[in-house]
Amino acid sequence: MNELNIKEKTAVITGGAGLICSEMARSLASQGVKTVIIDLNQEAAVKVAAEIQKEYGTQSIGLSASVLDRESLLASKKIINEKFGAIDILVNGAGGNSPAATTNVEKMDGTEDPEDTFFGLKLEGFDKVFDLNFKGTLIPTMVYSTDMVKNKAGVIINISSMNSYRPLTKIAAYSAAKSAVNNFTQWLAVHFSKTGIRVNAIAPGFLLTNQNRFLLMDEKTGEPTARTRKILGSTPMERFGTPEELTGTLLYLASDLSKFVTGVIIPVDGGFSAFSGV
Ligand SMILES: NC(=O)c1ccc[n+]([C@@H]2O[C@H](COP(=O)([O-])OP(=O)(O)OC[C@H]3O[C@@H](n4cnc5c(N)ncnc54)[C@H](O)[C@@H]3O)[C@@H](O)[C@H]2O)c1
Repeated sequence: MNELNIKEKTAVITGGAGLICSEMARSLASQGVKTVIIDLNQEAAVKVAAEIQKEYGTQSIGLSASVLDRESLLASKKIINEKFGAIDILVNGAGGNSPAATTNVEKMDGTEDPEDTFFGLKLEGFDKVFDLNFKGTLIPTMVYSTDMVKNKAGVIINISSMNSYRPLTKIAAYSAAKSAVNNFTQWLAVHFSKTGIRVNAIAPGFLLTNQNRFLLMDEKTGEPTARTRKILGSTPMERFGTPEELTGTLLYLASDLSKFVTGVIIPVDGGFSAFSGV
């Protein structure tokens, strides 16, 4: 049986102040990993790091940097190297969607206001979503993986989505950007295969969090909304996942338990991606 072999390693988690990635940072800290919370929101990053340090007794720092700004990432790397030494694990978690790259109607029939359809999508919205999800994975990887090359060891974990396998209605840019993340995960896994660095991704299914609870559950009745019923009907386990339920796969990919695994995108989705709907 392999050991995890991640105690005392240093992990950088981008978007680490967010819902999913703060939980991921906690799970790494619970295994003795030193954690660096990188987020645009400095206050939230510092808060998460302080909570982690208090809860798990492992070192944690919160730093402000943008995954789209190479200089700010390089500045953070300098601090990380001074405080914690070389970076061993990178979780590329910062990501998300924008209303400007989302259609109002699911399927158009030609009678709608064009603004509500494909024709209303904004190029600036596409740029924003592609940049955050794709370049926001690419640039931090360029900056933070240099230590791994020197050490001939490291792990990169990208955060994808269900929409990367088959697009979800309305969110054209977000789906395409996460598909690009999958493609890049495979490309870089091959490119890095002789360096000792493994590159994989996690594709979370539908999660119920405090942030989206009001969208998914009717505020007054507490009953699922129409979109929620659709999601649950397409999820064989017939329930939402939770951020904690992603952490087992994260620890597997971050540790020696997956020593021979590179270039995979693991769905953690209650069966959503396996289900044809019939
Ligand atoms: N929530 C879901 O159901 C779900 C499902 C599948 C995939 N995902 C993916 O999981 C990841 C985390 O999602 P979440 O729901 O926890 O989101 P979240 O909004 O809670 O967290 C995202 C974090 O990223 C930070 N951030 C945004 N832009 C940044 C930038 N330029 N530089 C640095 N940090 C930046 C935000 O401040 C925020 O703290 C994203 O990649 C998302 O696409 C989420």
